[in-house]
Amino acid sequence: MKIFLKALLASAFALTLSLGGCYYDNEEDLYLGSSSCDTSNVTYTLSVAPVFAGYCNSCHATGSPSGGIVTDNYESVVANITRIKGSINHENGYLAMPQNGGKLSTCDLSKIDIWIRKGMLND
Ligand code: HEC
Repeated sequence: MKIFLKALLASAFALTLSLGGCYYDNEEDLYLGSSSCDTSNVTYTLSVAPVFAGYCNSCHATGSPSGGIVTDNYESVVANITRIKGSINHENGYLAMPQNGGKLSTCDLSKIDIWIRKGMLND
């Protein structure tokens, strides 16, 4: 019985890993070859920070940030990532951001999503 349980756990773990891998690969494949959205080398500095600078920092700069959310520095973005992710994806239970603006482009949302799933590196 114990051996059976161990085997079950091991295969569940392996399945999770392989499914996670597939899902991730597919996301990148989806945008490979697309000249308009390059997600091949997503970094905080080149891919994520410019989106916040263009669409968020006018209201969420260090100093007197709306809603207490700061988007102009790495540490604050990471600390508030759950709410930021909910807001920009217009998820239930979160205020839709950017306020009074259109939803971010699919490309920008993909880059932020990839950055989050790669571990939110300060790169
Ligand atoms: C025109 C100003 C403005 C812009 C631009 C803007 N926000 Fe906001 N944001 C606000 C205000 C004001 C609040 C607080 C609203 C409240 O508390 O009622 C807020 C709240 C938030 C919250 C908290 C939401 C929640 O449900 O807890 C997050 C996260 C957020 N903004 C992220 C962003 C991000 C990310 C961007 C850029 C994509 C952005 N905002 C762009 C004005 C703005």
